[in-house]
Amino acid sequence: MSKRKIIIAVTGASGSIYAKLLLDFFTLQQDKNNIEVGVVMSDNAKTVWEHELGNQDYKNYSFTFYDKNNFYAPFASGSAKYDTMVVVPCSMGTLGRIANGISNDLLSRAADVILKERRKLILVARETPYNLIHIKNMKTVTEAGGIICPATPSFYSQPKTIEEVAQTVVSRIIDLIGLENETYRWGN
Ligand SMILES: Cc1cc2nc3c(=O)[nH]c(=O)nc-3n(C[C@H](O)[C@H](O)[C@H](O)COP(=O)(O)O)c2cc1C
Repeated sequence: MSKRKIIIAVTGASGSIYAKLLLDFFTLQQDKNNIEVGVVMSDNAKTVWEHELGNQDYKNYSFTFYDKNNFYAPFASGSAKYDTMVVVPCSMGTLGRIANGISNDLLSRAADVILKERRKLILVARETPYNLIHIKNMKTVTEAGGIICPATPSFYSQPKTIEEVAQTVVSRIIDLIGLENETYRWGN
């Protein structure tokens, strides 16, 4: 099987726990030789993480973190062949920049590249309620081939903790990435 190359981008929307749980999932992945993960965080992603989770634990992961202004990062170019990008959580500002092709930092450039190469872009959009601009931007990204995966938990698995609630979203993200993932499945 060919190597998977995945970008995890974190922005300053509420829901740093989603990013944490996804990074934890990739940390535990058995298939490390076949999966390469690159991470980019916006400035506000770090601020919101520190506010919501009360730590700077994003510094402890062993993945390669790229500065948000580093256009020399491999996934700034389609030639590096990253196959999937997840923006988790995705702020409305970042959604707007991606929908309008404003590649003014590594994060928005990487999303632009993924779309132009017709690869998989998953935006875990977080805001409530939405205005018409948000909805139009989600429509534009969907028409360009991206996937809007709302940061909206489900409750039919009867989660008991905040982590279990958040994991209901993260499990759907992992399903969309196309990796094996032990999770509650309706009907099983
Ligand atoms: C604690 C906190 C929570 C926020 N939650 C959201 C949110 O849920 N959705 C959103 O679009 N912006 C939210 N924001 C505002 C964004 O951080 C802000 O618009 C920022 O410019 C987004 O930039 P980025 O996309 O480059 O991270 C929040 C800001 C703070 C400080």
